[in-house]
Amino acid sequence: MSYTEGMLKEGALKGKTIVVTGGGTGLGKSMGLYFLKLGANLVITSRKLDVLQETAKEMERETGGKVLAVACDVRDIEQVETMFDEADALFGKVDGVLNNAAGNFISPTERLSTNAFNTVIDIVLKGTANVTMVAGKRWIAAKQPGTFLNIVTTYAWTGSGYVVPSAAAKAGVLAMTRSLAVEWAKYKIRSNAIAPGPFPTEGAWSRLLPGDLVKKFDPAKKVPVGRVGEHQELANLAAYLMSDYSAYVNGEVVTIDGGEWLQGAGEFNNLEAIPQEMWDMLEASREKKQ
Ligand code: HXC
Ligand code: NAP
Repeated sequence: MSYTEGMLKEGALKGKTIVVTGGGTGLGKSMGLYFLKLGANLVITSRKLDVLQETAKEMERETGGKVLAVACDVRDIEQVETMFDEADALFGKVDGVLNNAAGNFISPTERLSTNAFNTVIDIVLKGTANVTMVAGKRWIAAKQPGTFLNIVTTYAWTGSGYVVPSAAAKAGVLAMTRSLAVEWAKYKIRSNAIAPGPFPTEGAWSRLLPGDLVKKFDPAKKVPVGRVGEHQELANLAAYLMSDYSAYVNGEVVTIDGGEWLQGAGEFNNLEAIPQEMWDMLEASREKKQ
């Protein structure tokens, strides 16, 4: 048994159709692939149709499942409506939405143009709102249950310098998750979130650790368990929260970061730097005094 293995029972998502925004690359691709392995039909969407089509082919080859690739910029409400129309036309209905698409980059905040700030807010917060509103209204009108799973970050509640538009947007997504968990539960719509720590992807690494930064700031060094995340362990959590096994989990944000954010938060956690010999000396001097 290992965290690099799939965890849920075979067929755990059978009969469900799940939309994954940003599903052609990175974490969205890994989570979507696992949903497919568990029997779901998959709809992957993002701006780049060629990337989506390549991913869809690869996934279908690997699993024998069915994947619909639809180009859809989450900032454009008409494209979002059309994407759901296409999903409904092929699969009959959509049962779950993984709001995973995001845009981000590092910058001192005072260097950001208005358009740079707005671009991230438009993709992450307003894009997630667009997808959520379209899916939610359809589920409510059809009297059909549904599940939202939103990918946020731990700086949604701690905040973080140098990624301020992303932090503000993810905080908004988290507030939306918790708010709708209450308001839409009466329609049998659940809303949960996952806050991943560092999980290597081309998209995140190229924008958050560009150039030589990756050599200077090894993300694994900030994580108490001493490593970055494996995509499968995130996929296991996402599949559970998307499945009916988590029917009583609603409005939760699950952190999967090896303890990273708490290490940054604890006031004395930097005492990790004190060597054992110094602790021995401190103990000896305390014993001498007693
Ligand atoms: C400052 C920047 C910038 C940068 C773009 N801009 N990159 N400003 N520093 N590095 C500015 C541009 O100059 C422009 O403003 C405005 O932002 C819009 O840029 P465009 O390139 O026109 O936007 P667009 O083509 O829509 O691309 C969106 C993007 C891009 C967000 C800028 O990076 C992208 O497509 N990202 C998608 C994938 C992604 O970001 N993945 C990483 C997610 S990782 P002006 O004023 O010049 O017009 C993640 C991890 C979180 O979220 C937690 C980790 C632990
Ligand atoms: P990624 O591969 O760059 O994923 C982002 C995806 O969003 C891409 O597939 C991109 O595809 C899509 N996208 C961007 N703008 C879009 C738009 N306007 N409309 C539709 N789709 C759009 O990076 P990732 O690391 O896998 O990130 C996935 C999620 O995990 C994000 O929500 C991110 O914030 C979160 N996260 C990642 C980490 C990490 O360590 N990797 C940590 C915490 C949270 P197109 O370019 O084709 O549009």
